[in-house]
Amino acid sequence: MAQECSAGALELQQVQRLLLSCQEAKKAAYCPYSHFPVGAALLTQDGKIFSGCNVENACYPLGICAERTAIQKAVSEGYKDFRAIAIASDMQDDFISPCGACRQVMREFGCTWTVYMTKPDGTYLRKTVQELLPLSFGPENLQKTP
Ligand code: THU
Repeated sequence: MAQECSAGALELQQVQRLLLSCQEAKKAAYCPYSHFPVGAALLTQDGKIFSGCNVENACYPLGICAERTAIQKAVSEGYKDFRAIAIASDMQDDFISPCGACRQVMREFGCTWTVYMTKPDGTYLRKTVQELLPLSFGPENLQKTP
């Protein structure tokens, strides 16, 4: 599958904007338990950016990842058409990769949009949601039930 079929490739300028936004979002991370700050920046089809950070809780399972914070902010403000999300962490040697729960939440809003997994030096891996969550279950499956 093409990497960015419906969305179309992002211009370099848009990518840079998204990378800076996710690094900025990481600064707000509330992670007193893991000490693992993460930032996300979500680009909508109409060019708006919603940012998010991980928000942990003393009741550990209630913590939420940066990606889902950003997606929930966007959806709750009426934006559901996404072009891309960029994710940042402090790991110098590894690209931050979204957890399974976040991949499923991304997939809810389409399979063809793009995920930029970054390092602090600005390098990144680019994958579609489809590539990160192949053979997925989504809203279309529910519509097919008799
Ligand atoms: N985390 C994220 O926010 N996004 C990811 O892509 C991976 C993990 C958070 C969850 C938790 O607050 C901390 O990182 C350690 O797992």
